[in-house]
Amino acid sequence: MNFQSVEFEAAAGRADQLKKSDLPEIVFSGKSNVGKSSLINKLVNRKALARVSATPGKTATINFFRLPECRFVDLPGYGYAKVSQNEKQRWAKLMQGYFDAERNVALVIQILDMRHEPTADDFDMINFLIERDLPFLVVCTKSDKLNKTQFNTQNAYFEDLFREHEIPFIPYSSQTGFGLETLKQHIEAAVLG
Ligand code: GTP
Ligand code: MG
Repeated sequence: MNFQSVEFEAAAGRADQLKKSDLPEIVFSGKSNVGKSSLINKLVNRKALARVSATPGKTATINFFRLPECRFVDLPGYGYAKVSQNEKQRWAKLMQGYFDAERNVALVIQILDMRHEPTADDFDMINFLIERDLPFLVVCTKSDKLNKTQFNTQNAYFEDLFREHEIPFIPYSSQTGFGLETLKQHIEAAVLG
C-alpha cells in the first residue's frame, strides 16, 4: 500500500462538516497529547502533515487525510482537563456525529502512552469500541521513553490487560520508528482486506 502519496483533505469542527464516507477509513483515537498526529506523520513519512504540539489539545477538529486507497482520520484528543465545558460538549457531539454516521471504518487505532496505565477516559473509549464492534487495535506509543526493564514490565502489563478481549497491541515509538512496520501491515490488511 502506498503511504507516501497523501494530502490534507478537510477539517471538521462540527458533525455537519464531515466529509462523505466513500473510502475505507483508518481512525486515530487517543487522549490529548498522546501522539496521534506524530503517528500519522510517521506513517506517511512527513514531518508536519498533521500538526504536532507540546501543548495538549492542538487538534480540535476531525482532520481527514487522503491516500490513494484509504483515508486517515485524526480525531481530536479527549481527556484534556483545561478545556471549557462548552468545548467538551462540542467534542462529544462531533465524535458522536462521526461514529453514528455508519462510516466505512476499516480500523481504529487506539493510542495509549506505554508508560502509563490507561485513564478512565481511555477505558471508556476502549469499551465504546468493543460495544460498537468496531475493528480496532491498540498502539502503545512513546516506548522510547522506557528503559529495557520498564519496557518489559509495561509490555507484560498491557498483554495481560488485553488478553481477555484478544485486542492486538503494538509497542511503538514515533521517535525511533519502533513498531512502525508491524502497524503498517495491520493497516494494509484492514484496507486491502
Ligand atoms: P493533540 O492533537 O493535542 O490531541 O495531541 P496528539 O495526540 O496529536 O499528540 P502530538 O502528536 O501532537 O504529540 C504530543 C507530544 O508528544 C509532542 O511533543 C511530540 O513530539 C511527543 N511525542 C509523540 N510521539 C512520541 C514518541 O513516540 N516518543 C516521544 N519521545 N515523544 C513523542
Ligand atoms: Mg494532534
